[in-house]
Amino acid sequence: MSFLNVNLNKCNQCGICASVCPAQALDNPKAPLQNQKKLDHFPVLSSGQAEEFLRSRRSIRVYEDKKIPNNTLSKLLDMGRFAETGGNSQSVSYLVVSKKEILQQLSEMTLTWMEQEIEKGTGWVQLYKGFVKNCRTTGEDLILRGVPHLIFGKAQKAFPLGRENTVLSFSYIELYATSLGLGTCWAGFVENAGRSGYEPMRKILGMDENEVLTGALMAGFPKYRYHRLPDRNPLSIRWID
Ligand SMILES: Cc1cc2nc3c(=O)[nH]c(=O)nc-3n(C[C@H](O)[C@H](O)[C@H](O)COP(=O)(O)O)c2cc1C
Ligand code: SF4
Repeated sequence: MSFLNVNLNKCNQCGICASVCPAQALDNPKAPLQNQKKLDHFPVLSSGQAEEFLRSRRSIRVYEDKKIPNNTLSKLLDMGRFAETGGNSQSVSYLVVSKKEILQQLSEMTLTWMEQEIEKGTGWVQLYKGFVKNCRTTGEDLILRGVPHLIFGKAQKAFPLGRENTVLSFSYIELYATSLGLGTCWAGFVENAGRSGYEPMRKILGMDENEVLTGALMAGFPKYRYHRLPDRNPLSIRWID
């Protein structure tokens, strides 16, 4: 007779049951023990190490003119799977653009989208105005900055947490990138165009009609390394004790 019954219809595959038992006496077909990695010590980093690790992630805007090998890119994105997701939905998938001509077209169409938003008076109009003018007069690609890879997050249109799950997975990817010698930078302008459903962008990316873009992240080999960790605004807290 078994004392433990798992209602697999209610199980969201989080794997906590199998990972918490020190004797490995619990298993669950929806989160199998054999797929779990052994953790010898916890916490993994001291607070000092964790602080340096977290603070040493920077937005990289100048990249070497070389591509990341596909297996390294896959390894990088694979870490995104381990970020938390609403209800353990794990619903984010990625689209990686590495073709130079497409990247250039994505920059150009993002600028056009921004100009249309300015015309309509929507979006972050004031910020866009100066930025777009600067891009147009200098001819510089300040949108994608010649980055070798652009990673899009995507999710099913009907899924309500696609953006949240993507943002969290990108954070994992950005933090992990440093340990692979890679650099990343959020591609905010591109993702704003993509998330608005801008049709030319959906078309060039071959988006399925049931899918939506949920984020965009640049990735490549950083040209420079940093020797200092900058400060931020002071911590702001209101306590209710
Ligand atoms: C949602 C979001 C959108 C962003 N979009 C851009 C962007 O389009 N281009 C860019 O160069 N940096 C972008 N950034 C990077 C921020 O400018 C950067 O995180 C901030 O200046 C702090 O610098 P750090 O990331 O090096 O600590 C974005 C960041 C976030 C979180
Ligand atoms: S995997 Fe998570 S949700 Fe499923 S039975 Fe175990 S603890 Fe519960």
